[in-house]
Amino acid sequence: MKELTCTVKYNACIARGIYAMTVALPEEVAVRCGQFLNISTGNPANLLKRPFGIMRVNGKNVTFCYQVKGEGTRLLSEAKGGERLKVTLPLGNGFVIPEGAKRIAVVGGGVGIFPLLSVIEQIADREYYSYIGFRSAEYACLTAEFGAASKSLTVVTDDGSLGGKSNAVSAFLAEYGRVKPDLIIACGPPVMLKALKTQLNERGITTPCLVSLEERMGCGIGACLVCVCKKSDGTNARVCKDGPVFDIDEVEL
Ligand SMILES: Cc1cc2nc3c(=O)[nH]c(=O)nc-3n(C[C@H](O)[C@H](O)[C@H](O)COP(=O)(O)OP(=O)(O)OC[C@H]3O[C@@H](n4cnc5c(N)ncnc54)[C@H](O)[C@@H]3O)c2cc1C
Ligand code: FES
Repeated sequence: MKELTCTVKYNACIARGIYAMTVALPEEVAVRCGQFLNISTGNPANLLKRPFGIMRVNGKNVTFCYQVKGEGTRLLSEAKGGERLKVTLPLGNGFVIPEGAKRIAVVGGGVGIFPLLSVIEQIADREYYSYIGFRSAEYACLTAEFGAASKSLTVVTDDGSLGGKSNAVSAFLAEYGRVKPDLIIACGPPVMLKALKTQLNERGITTPCLVSLEERMGCGIGACLVCVCKKSDGTNARVCKDGPVFDIDEVEL
């Protein structure tokens, strides 16, 4: 984990309220797909950095995408090229994709699609069957990138304005029998991950499934316990340090 000062190279709106930012680091940093960074907002009054999944690393350039939610992300959206921000990375465990997993189902909802793209672009020697869902067409982004890196891509929206009217979990389960994945990786809002867990259990599907969780965070480095989640065995885990990636059976959703 390094604490560095990076320079904003690119920061642009790619869908409604969603931005892609590329920052240049002063040195190359090794990052595993699914790890995240913590970045300052550009306003020293905001003491806490904000966490975002690392989507792409290209030499010293690191790209992440973010949805404008509150004050911190609004400030980030206004950052101009050349602006200098403090960044801590890489954080968290990231996805460890077993060698034996050849057919991988990718299930992503909303901003949860960003860390999943890092997996399918970085570990390219597998067959990916991607199911990504958005609220509506105006929130859809990175569909071309998912299409290029996947054997098949299904895009759905809540209102049917792009692709079928469905959600990523239902779209995936409708094709489960055809695809027969040997691993599922998923990231999205808590309600989506809960639905995925419930439906896998109800259908008796025992395919290994890794989920990347999002919790409110404070320090991002395991010290403050703001991000604690409940594990199925009754113990707690810190999403920032022990996660954000867990086996779906390991955590309460
Ligand atoms: C591991 C991880 C990866 C993430 N990856 C992405 C991503 O790739 N793209 C994306 O759009 N969003 C991502 N998020 C969510 C993103 O961090 C929040 O939307 C963002 O911090 C909101 O900041 P804000 O100042 O605009 O909102 P405010 O609500 O004003 O934030 C106030 C405080 O709460 C914290 N906070 C608020 N919401 C969240 C949240 N959902 N998760 C963690 N901390 C939160 C903020 O960091 C800040 O300290 C991720 C969160 C986590 C934990
Ligand atoms: S955010 Fe502080 S322990 Fe996880």
